[in-house]
Amino acid sequence: MQLKTQAFALAFAAAPYTAVAQFATAAMLRFQCSKLVIERLDPLVTPGLVQSPHIHQIVGGDSFNDTMNPVEYDPVGKSTCTTCSFSEDFSNYWTANLYFRARNGTYKRVPQMVNLGLQGEEGMTIYYIPPYDGVTTVTAFAPGFRMLVGDAELRQAEGQQRQLCHRCYTTVEQEPFGGPPCVDGSGMDTAALPPQACAGGIRATITFPTCWDGKNLDSPDHKSHVAYPESGTFETTGPCPASHPVRLPQVMYEVMWDTREFNDPSIWPEDGSQPFVYSMGDSLGYGWHGDYVFGWEGDALQRAMDARCFGDRCSQLKTQSPEQATACKKEQTVPEDVEGWLDELPHESRYDVAIDAYEVL
Ligand SMILES: *[C@@H]1O[C@H](CO)[C@@H](O)[C@H](O)[C@H]1NC(C)=O
Ligand SMILES: *[C@@H]1O[C@H](CO)[C@@H](O)[C@H](O)[C@H]1NC(C)=O
Repeated sequence: MQLKTQAFALAFAAAPYTAVAQFATAAMLRFQCSKLVIERLDPLVTPGLVQSPHIHQIVGGDSFNDTMNPVEYDPVGKSTCTTCSFSEDFSNYWTANLYFRARNGTYKRVPQMVNLGLQGEEGMTIYYIPPYDGVTTVTAFAPGFRMLVGDAELRQAEGQQRQLCHRCYTTVEQEPFGGPPCVDGSGMDTAALPPQACAGGIRATITFPTCWDGKNLDSPDHKSHVAYPESGTFETTGPCPASHPVRLPQVMYEVMWDTREFNDPSIWPEDGSQPFVYSMGDSLGYGWHGDYVFGWEGDALQRAMDARCFGDRCSQLKTQSPEQATACKKEQTVPEDVEGWLDELPHESRYDVAIDAYEVL
């Protein structure tokens, strides 16, 4: 375990960026949240709509639901368990799913690998990062807080939010290793899905804004109550804009798509194009997006940030075993086949109906 933690620190230390040296020594929570459910709900974008237009993978507290109104719907009080290794974290984290499209036109869900040094089942790696300088404090999210990064409808590079990217790993030891994600010009990450086969899988990163307006728990687009800092290679170093003066922990998701069973060139399209498609029907990758609903118990997150804990152990927090975390499950609200070879993506058959229903709401 210790070797893996060192490997992780080395991952950041190995890259040739000034910010990286700081990041390598920075405190941060980095932990596993395993699979809770894979289903078509989105309490942020389509609250109350059963089912949402496309499918998501959801991790965290088991109170995840079609409607989760700020404050009134309390994930801490309503959850009975969480899939995260920190057992006081009943937040929900969700993203689009990735599918492989075969030559015969059928689709199969791409599973997720658990990241280096962590244990669990599928899901994602969650980070909460305070500023590198070791001094600047952050204000933990208020109960009811939520936000969204990315645009599920986007199909071009132009207009994509910062800090969404993909890295193509040539080995499961995660080469190319190191460097903060989504740095312009590093040559390591792409906004689009990688065009080539990635023998070690594809890492998809989402980094959330770190500046808050200090008032609103949400906003109509789920974005404008937060902002990225005015400068800084990786986030948390630059000043917050005057409109959004409250500095938040930097939330980051890493999803490790395990593409290994799909890398045989004989099953890729004849024209050599890449065969992966996000659950919105996006084969480019610009629609990659992630959602967050805060749900830490009491002031646990604030204490962990103030203590500058590192990794998935923290003197300020309670942990649970991987077995306990993966035992937490939620049934699909509407049972639907999302595994195996599917004739169409889980959105397509009822997509138009779902959209019509939403417009009526
Ligand atoms: C989830 O939402 C449904 C309504 O869609 C409601 O009946 C149910 O009680 C909610 N679950 C929880 C845990 O509140
Ligand atoms: C479609 O292609 C996949 C991958 O090659 C294969 O496993 C599956 O059986 C095929 N399905 C049909 C109906 O031929």
